[in-house]
Amino acid sequence: LKAIDLRSDTVTEPTLEMRRAMAEAEVGDDGYRDDPTVNRLEEAAAAVTGKEAALFVPSGTMGNLISVLTHCQRGEEIVLGDQAHIYYYEVGGASALGSLVMRQVPNDVDGTMDLDQLEQAIRPEALAVAPTRLVCLENTHNRCSGAVIPPSYVRNVFEIAQRHGVSFHLDGARVFNAATYLGLPVSDVVAPFDTVLFCLSKGLCCPVGSLLCGSLDFISRARRIRRMVGGGMRQAGILAAAGLVAFETTAHRLAEDHANAKLLADGLANIPGVTLDPTRIQTNIVIFELADGNVQGFLQALAKRGVKAGSPGGTKIRMVTHLGIGAEDIDTALGVTEGAVKMQTGAN
Ligand SMILES: Cc1ncc(COP(=O)(O)O)c(C=O)c1O
Repeated sequence: LKAIDLRSDTVTEPTLEMRRAMAEAEVGDDGYRDDPTVNRLEEAAAAVTGKEAALFVPSGTMGNLISVLTHCQRGEEIVLGDQAHIYYYEVGGASALGSLVMRQVPNDVDGTMDLDQLEQAIRPEALAVAPTRLVCLENTHNRCSGAVIPPSYVRNVFEIAQRHGVSFHLDGARVFNAATYLGLPVSDVVAPFDTVLFCLSKGLCCPVGSLLCGSLDFISRARRIRRMVGGGMRQAGILAAAGLVAFETTAHRLAEDHANAKLLADGLANIPGVTLDPTRIQTNIVIFELADGNVQGFLQALAKRGVKAGSPGGTKIRMVTHLGIGAEDIDTALGVTEGAVKMQTGAN
C-alpha cells in the first residue's frame, strides 16, 4: 500500500511531462551562460515575479543565503521574524557564513510581526551598533501553518523599510501558494520587495531548484556570490526544464492542495485531543497541537498505519498537502489520525 506522505510538499516528484522535458532539454555550460534552458527559465522567472532578472540556484536555503550575502556586508544586521525559515532552519548560515546579525522580532500566529516592534528593531547608523541593511518577510509562512501575509501588511513593512533606507527581501519559497490564495499574480504579491526567492521543488513538484529574483545589478552581484558558495552549475538545463513545465502546469493547480488542507483541518479539528483552529488554514500546511505530549510515539503510530507526518517542535504535528495527495487520502489520513489519538489518550 502506498504511504500517504504528508511530511512536506518537498516529497513531490517530477511529473511525467517534467521528466520528458528534462530528458529532451537543450543544455550548455551555465558557467559560460551557455545553457539555453537555464537562460529561458531565468527570463521566465523574472517575468513571473516582475523583476528585471533572476538567478537559478540549487536550493531555497542557498538562494536566501546568496540574497543576504549580496544585500549585506559582514557585521551588518538583518531584521526578520523569530519563526522565519532563514533564522530557524538554515543552520544559521547568514551568521555562520556571512558574519551577519539576525535580529528577530516575534512572529504572531498569522506570520506577521508587530509593526512598532519591527520598526524599533531597525537600528540607526551609529558608532556602536550593527547597522540594519535588510528586512525579510516569509510568504507563505512555513512555521505559521502556511499563513498568507496580506498585501496591506506587506505595504506597511515596505513603507517602514523605505523610511529607514533598508532593503526588503521575501523568502517566497511558497509564494505561488500565497498568490493562489490571494487570487493575484505572483508579480503583484512580490512587487514591494527588492528581491524574492521562490522554490520550484515544493508544491511545484520539480526535483531541484529555486530562483532568486531582483534588479539586474543585484542579480549580477548575486551571480558572483552563487559562484562563491559553490552553487554555480554546468548543464543545469536538465533541471531548469522542469521549472519551465512547472510554470505552465503545477503552478496553476495549488488551489487543489489548499482545498485538501482545508478538508484535513476541518476533520482534525473534530477529533477530541486535537487542538486546531481550521479557519487559520489558508494554504497547504496544517499544524495542530496534541493534548498528549508523546509526539514521537504518535508519529510512529501514524507511520505504522501508512501515514507520514512531521513535528515542527513541542507537541505540534505538521501535515502538508501536495500533488501526491488526493481527497481520498485525506479521508484515510483522518481515520488513521483519529485512531492514533485515541490510542495515545487511552494509553494514559
Ligand atoms: C519558507 C522556506 N524558505 C526556504 C526554504 C528552503 O528551501 P530548500 O529546502 O530548497 O533549501 C524552505 C524549505 O522548506 C521554506 O519552507
